[in-house]
This record gives sequence, structure tokens and C-alpha cells, in this order.
Amino acid sequence: MSGKDTRHPLIIAPSLLAAHFGHFHRDSERVGRSGAEWLHLDIMDGHFVPNLSFGPDVVKALRKHSSLLFDVHLMCSKPDTLLKLFKEAGADAITIHAELGRRVEDLIWQIRSLNRKVGLAVNPPTSIKDAEPYLDKIDLLLVMTVNPGFGGQSFIEETLPKIQQAQKWRKDRKLNFRIQVDGGINDKTGAMCAREGADTFVSGSHLFKQRNMRYGVKRLRRACHEATEFSERMKTIQS
Ligand code: DX5
Ligand code: ZN
Repeated sequence: MSGKDTRHPLIIAPSLLAAHFGHFHRDSERVGRSGAEWLHLDIMDGHFVPNLSFGPDVVKALRKHSSLLFDVHLMCSKPDTLLKLFKEAGADAITIHAELGRRVEDLIWQIRSLNRKVGLAVNPPTSIKDAEPYLDKIDLLLVMTVNPGFGGQSFIEETLPKIQQAQKWRKDRKLNFRIQVDGGINDKTGAMCAREGADTFVSGSHLFKQRNMRYGVKRLRRACHEATEFSERMKTIQS
């Protein structure tokens, strides 16, 4: 039996990875004025992904100047030692990767006991089934729509069925986690994800290259909102 669909209000989360690395403070304030709800913070360790970004000290410095929800995405092989540091730095949500296998359960528990929102991410080559055992323990399921490590990559369309599956699980099991997408998100790809059930949209290069980020956020939100409404209408007609 299918339960009631529990769609969340849409959230736009600009990714600081696309900011000017010499001007994090200025650029995080730009996000603060843009109408976006979350600031997405990509943490890379040079091991889980072949790139390095920034650490908790940067997050802590930005926290003093921002009231956005800090959405920390840990692309790290050993998040265990980092969780407390990011909590103390001001993270509101912490996402770890399903690719960490048997350590996932304990990491989820640790994030929960730090009283942070819990996110679980799935890379494009990883089956969405790897996230299935944890769906009732998380606040956020992050379907990666590029292979993590770098901003500015092209959206991978083959990830769309995973969003559809996540939405089906959420509805059938009456769960409440958000479905987040990250990588290559613009008005067109955001709408494609929204149609399948995504409600939380990370966007880096697309939003940062806008002359007016506020207008860019508004347009992205409108595109995703219209796609959500359209797919809801289609489902009502078909049922
Ligand atoms: C990729 C990161 C993304 C990245 C998205 O490894 O997890 O958050 O910043 O950037 P765009 O939107 O440019 O693909
Ligand atoms: Zn990310």
C-alpha cells in the first residue's frame, strides 16, 4: 500500500566550492543575500576524492557571519575524527558517504548523537540499494549527480532513476528524509530531478556565475517548483 506523499518545501543550497577561494567571507555573504536557505560546504580529503578543499577552521570563520543552515558534505575516507570538529565549527547537517560500507551505521549514530541532521550520500556508480537499510535513520539522502571531487562537471542523467526509487521508498514507507541532488544542477537539470522527487538542490558553478545570484536562485527555484507541480498533477491524473 502506498502512503501519502510527504514532499518538503524546496531548498536551494549554493555550493561554496564554486566561490572565489580568496573571498570565502564575501562570497558566503553573497549566498546569504541570495534567498537560498542552505550553504553547501564540500569537504574533500584528497583520498576519498582526488582533490582537497577546506576544513573546519574555514567553516568556523564563516559561521560568525552567516545564519544560513550549514550543510557539510564530507567526501572523506575517515570522517570519524572530523564529525565533532565540524559540529563545533557550526555545521547543522553532516553528510557522509554510503561507500564507507560497514562504518556507515556507526557514523550515522555519531552524527545523531552530536545532535546534527544526518545525511547519507550515494555516488553515481553506487547502487541506491546501499542506502536502503538506513532510510529510517537519516534526514537527507544525497543522490550524487556527478562523480564527486570537482565542481563544474556535467550532470549524469543515468542517476535520475535513483531519485525516483528514493521517492518511492519515502512515500511507501511514510518516511520523511529529504532527497538532495548535487552536481551539474541548473534550471534544466534541477527540473529533471524535481520531477523525480528531489526537493533539495545543491548548485555551485551555475549559481556563482550568475551576475545576480538572487535572480539565479529565484529562477532555479521556480524551475524546480514547476516541475514538482507538474509531476504531482500527472500522478493525480494517472491514479
Ligand atoms: C562535487 C561537490 C559538489 C559541487 C557541485 O564533488 O560535491 O557540491 O560543488 O558543483 P557544481 O554545481 O558546479 O557541479
Ligand atoms: Zn557536495
